[in-house]
Amino acid sequence: MSQNGAAGSTILVADDEPNIRRVIEAMFSKEGYSVLTAENGKRALALASGNPVDVLISDLIMPDMNGVELLQKVKQLHPSCAAIIVTAYGTIKSAVEAMRYGAYTYLQKPFDMDEVRVVVKKALEHRTLVAENIELKQQLKTNYKVDSMVGSSGKMQDVYKVIERVADTRATVLIRGESGTGKELVARALHFSSARASKPLVAVSCAALPETLLESELFGYEKNAFTGAVAAKAGRFEMANQGTLFLDEIGDITPATQIKLLRVVQEWEFERIGGTKTVKVDVRLIAATNKDLEKQVEEEKFRQDLYYRLNIVSIFLPPLRDRPEDIPSLVEHFLVKSAKINNRPKLKKVHPDTWQSLQAYRWPGNVRELENAVERAVVLADPGVDTITPDMMPMPVQAAMPAAASAGGKHNKKE
Ligand SMILES: Nc1ncnc2c1ncn2[C@@H]1O[C@H](COP(=O)(O)OP(=O)(O)OP(=O)(O)O)[C@@H](O)[C@H]1O
Ligand SMILES: [Mg+2]
Repeated sequence: MSQNGAAGSTILVADDEPNIRRVIEAMFSKEGYSVLTAENGKRALALASGNPVDVLISDLIMPDMNGVELLQKVKQLHPSCAAIIVTAYGTIKSAVEAMRYGAYTYLQKPFDMDEVRVVVKKALEHRTLVAENIELKQQLKTNYKVDSMVGSSGKMQDVYKVIERVADTRATVLIRGESGTGKELVARALHFSSARASKPLVAVSCAALPETLLESELFGYEKNAFTGAVAAKAGRFEMANQGTLFLDEIGDITPATQIKLLRVVQEWEFERIGGTKTVKVDVRLIAATNKDLEKQVEEEKFRQDLYYRLNIVSIFLPPLRDRPEDIPSLVEHFLVKSAKINNRPKLKKVHPDTWQSLQAYRWPGNVRELENAVERAVVLADPGVDTITPDMMPMPVQAAMPAAASAGGKHNKKE
């Protein structure tokens, strides 16, 4: 994207009030933008189909088409366009609803021009990121085998960028983040967007196995290496040869295993347990943990040399509560996914009060917890119900409803 930002960008203003069109046009043309104005939705759409649109500023209520409808149609024509919805009715509800349909943000009438200037500037920055992400997604699309990653917050854009940059290298990657933030998903994305995609992706959960079992899993063993070793067995490192080995919960491995692992990541060779022959492997290593590894290094529970070897590139997945703007697209994604998995009709709507709770709740279990909450609603919905009301959410989510909004309590009854 161009660095000049303002100059050259196109803003489409749709508002039935001539005054609003006039002041916005005057200000932004002076600053080097090209500005298109329309007095209704139809006209705006006609302009959008013949011109580039970087930012759409649309009134929410217009005679022929509402702002949300318009923004959806404009986005079909210009997927990375950033939409700003203007509302005189100023309720958080319609704003949240508009954002659910892909608005970047909203402005409340009456607004001052400085506010508009700042919002448009931010929207343009956002647009650039979205455009890059769409491009990146297209590049990666063919490679994602299972789930693709959802969420276009700035924080997630940073994550996608690192994935894109390092996927096709052999650099060891350490993925950090609280439980349920998507660490495994990132590991898959890295593998499937690398040249190793057609080779195995082998995962080992280090916390699930006691030390000796973990070592025999990782390195394999020769016949008679220990009681019960009736035949030789290749370990996961060998199985992952030419592919990727994903070591989940790396923070849980014991000092003895850490030493063995260190040797492998330094020399890419080892012996099977009870064996003497050196096995060489070509493996891309990805590790993940939700532990504070730096603290463990400080406390001498985790070897510093191993830490440095693993941490060549690190990817931090932010907790969901720090990127609430990702919630709408995640909910939409999980509505589709859980309807499909559970063979249920897709719930089409989310009640505005439900959005408020979803946004206010702290999500200690992060994306996994959100996925479970949505799936539960899909599975338990009464036949014929097509809207998720707050009472269909787990108790802690319901309890997060901001006080003012829940005071009426009307959402607890199904309409
Ligand atoms: N950005 C995302 N887009 C879509 N689905 C996601 C995203 N992040 C996480 N998920 C989903 O949330 C669930 C949890 O993700 P994942 O298993 O990758 O988390 P994790 O960080 O490995 O958790 P843990 O630390 O508990 O192992 C999965 O079902 C995953 O598909
Ligand atoms: Mg995991």
